[in-house]
Amino acid sequence: MKGKDIPAVSWLKFMGKANLILKNPLPFHAENFEKLGDIFRVQTGFGNPLVFSRNAEFAEYALQKNHRNFEKSPIQTRDMAKYLGYGLLTATGEHWRKQRKLIQPAFHKKQIAGLLYTVNSAILIELDRIKPNKTIDVFPVFNDLAFQTVVKSLFSSAVGQKEINRLQYITEAAQRMLVRELRQPFKRWWFKYGGSIKKHMDLVEEAREILRKLVRERKENLVGAGDLLDMLLEARYEDGTAMSEKQLIDEILIFFTAGHETTSNALTFTAELLARHPEIQEKIVSETKDAKAKTGDLMELIAYCTYTKQVLEEAMRLYPPVYFIDRINLEKDEFNGFRIHKNSNLLFSIYEIHRDANYWKNPQKFDPSRFAEGAKHTSHYYPFGAGPRKCIGNNFAMYEMILAISELVSRYKISTNKLEIEITPLITLKPKNAILRFEERS
Ligand code: HEM
Repeated sequence: MKGKDIPAVSWLKFMGKANLILKNPLPFHAENFEKLGDIFRVQTGFGNPLVFSRNAEFAEYALQKNHRNFEKSPIQTRDMAKYLGYGLLTATGEHWRKQRKLIQPAFHKKQIAGLLYTVNSAILIELDRIKPNKTIDVFPVFNDLAFQTVVKSLFSSAVGQKEINRLQYITEAAQRMLVRELRQPFKRWWFKYGGSIKKHMDLVEEAREILRKLVRERKENLVGAGDLLDMLLEARYEDGTAMSEKQLIDEILIFFTAGHETTSNALTFTAELLARHPEIQEKIVSETKDAKAKTGDLMELIAYCTYTKQVLEEAMRLYPPVYFIDRINLEKDEFNGFRIHKNSNLLFSIYEIHRDANYWKNPQKFDPSRFAEGAKHTSHYYPFGAGPRKCIGNNFAMYEMILAISELVSRYKISTNKLEIEITPLITLKPKNAILRFEERS
């Protein structure tokens, strides 16, 4: 095989730090990118090679230009599918292609526009929970907000609060179990024989039962709710058939998982950054005021709030909820003269790409104006991934977050005494101790 070897970190060195890396892999990534360059590997000596990269062109090559040679890793497919089944996020190959083609139209801007009033009323209810002049950890508020918006966009008012709470509890419990399995693979036998896995599989089965009931009720009583469930029930494959009930429920479970934690992380980090930048809050307040004076239509309001959008884009640059994207190359490949052995586990650090001084001026600075209209960052900005597997919910998430942040900042002045923004890098980049103070605006 032609080409040169990727600079390596020895297995011993990697294992020596394994515990620290499991807790927080970011310092290990940063240290070795600094020492070895934009691409390095861990010399395992057995199993598939482990390759880390913060090269945006390589990410673009794997996710977009030569995507056919790069599949999702077993973590995103096999391990997640154990709980969620094979839907958009976890499926590969022809099955994924068929599902993506079928579901994509439900996420077109025009369709989402029809969901905005439902999304907005869920946001207003959740923001009412913030008590003025109090200091709180804001993550749970945004966490519930993100779940409520997905559930209500799917089922409108057909689902009761008790069922929503149960579905949320189960989604989060299954996610926590998956994190435990991935972070402590040596305890898998214990999880299996100790009953934890079975307990969580039973919980997911309970969620499936709740969803089956909701789907069957809707099928019997098609009232034209115009929600996501209607769109998914009406969608047809090329041969004119509809999704099976099992497939539909897999997809719904996946929307819960993919659309919930990512959005709540992004909203929390945005609020944390705003708390440290009162001048940016003022700009959002005045933009929202102008927008509301001009229109009552939510889609028009969103289109008007261009600065709020830039704030969110900049927050996701510094704190990308999906802070790494992994792939496995099916055949041997080459990038920038480096040999990429067949079946390498590739890990693209979106966190590092988004903070690389080669791509960004003053990368550590929170500066929403870098996303001002006309600025082009697409080749090194990946909060929603890239290529055919780019996030299907990206417009949904952006609209929801613009509505939530413009409303939040119009209601409250946000502040904090804390200097640092704390993070917990797990499967997603999660905020930690997001303690903020909310003061009512007069
Ligand atoms: C700020 C919020 C969000 C972020 C940062 C985000 C990020 C991402 C990223 C990076 C991927 C690609 C992963 C990869 O290529 O390996 C992805 C895929 C996906 N996302 Fe999102 N997401 C967000 C919100 C949502 C929402 C609201 C939904 C649904 C309601 C959603 C549904 C999905 C699905 C189904 C996929 C798999 C798409 C496919 O493979 O065809 N996401 N997301």
